[in-house]
Amino acid sequence: MQPPRCHICKMIKPKFSDKLQKMIEFKQVNKHFGSLHVLQNINLTVKEGEVTVICGPSGSGKSTLIRTINQLEAISAGDIWVDGKSIFDPTRSLNALRKEIGFVFQQFNLYPHLSVLENITLAPRKLNNLSAAAAETKALELLEQVGLSDKRHQYPAQLSGGQQQRVAIARALAMEPRVLLFDEPTSALDPEMIGEVLSVMKKLAHSGITMMVVTHEMGFAREVSDQVVFIDHGQIIEQADPHTFFHNPQHPRAKQFLQQLLNPLHVQEVLL
Ligand SMILES: Nc1ncnc2c1ncn2[C@@H]1O[C@H](COP(=O)(O)OP(=O)(O)OP(=O)(O)O)[C@@H](O)[C@H]1O
Ligand SMILES: [Mg+2]
Repeated sequence: MQPPRCHICKMIKPKFSDKLQKMIEFKQVNKHFGSLHVLQNINLTVKEGEVTVICGPSGSGKSTLIRTINQLEAISAGDIWVDGKSIFDPTRSLNALRKEIGFVFQQFNLYPHLSVLENITLAPRKLNNLSAAAAETKALELLEQVGLSDKRHQYPAQLSGGQQQRVAIARALAMEPRVLLFDEPTSALDPEMIGEVLSVMKKLAHSGITMMVVTHEMGFAREVSDQVVFIDHGQIIEQADPHTFFHNPQHPRAKQFLQQLLNPLHVQEVLL
């Protein structure tokens, strides 16, 4: 019998166990912006097929952390392994690394002069040498799965923020990445559009693709993630399964952060 496949990205669903492969591994990673030590001795493992939520205060280094994985930011020291190889391994080009890693940005970053279909088919045609027909077939499948088949000929400016972000997710999936990184994918959206994007992400979670999601959507973190990582001042100060993170956070900064998010009007002075 064929193993089950995700109905969105068509990847084989993994069987969850402690034996899952390491998909991303940060080893003593440090990053400086001039005198600012923005990532400090980061050690973090993300297993294949799992969902890791990264949270923490503004400026704590969350975006920088995930941008180092596909080398949108270069690290100053340490190493990062992706899918069994160091990012510095000369046998894998930067293009090959980036093909394995989809990135969904806060501001969608669609090409404004291209239609929805053209946005999704561009990279598979140029980088994966897919024929126009094959790229379009795949794009239409993905559009159906994110609920936007009827928007294929529209331009980004004709779409709502939530629709643009769903196109951006379809565009990332069109390259059939093994890893999908999200940097606050819902924080530029009006509240009524957040749910449609989160529900696409929820369908993707545990479909086989490995996800790292920077988000303050704690409902998503609680319901969907396998681990939550809390960063403050460039350091991981709490890392736990969601149940432990939400019910029994250890570090006072994590407690304070959670309380601010979940109940912003009543932050206990004692935690400050
Ligand atoms: N290109 C850059 N040059 C210099 N400093 C930078 C650069 N990018 C980020 N920083 C600084 O590094 C720190 C971490 O930034 P980063 O964007 O990773 O934080 P963040 O946790 O994602 O914040 P936010 O929640 O506001 O998005 C901040 O102090 C920021 O000002
Ligand atoms: Mg950020």
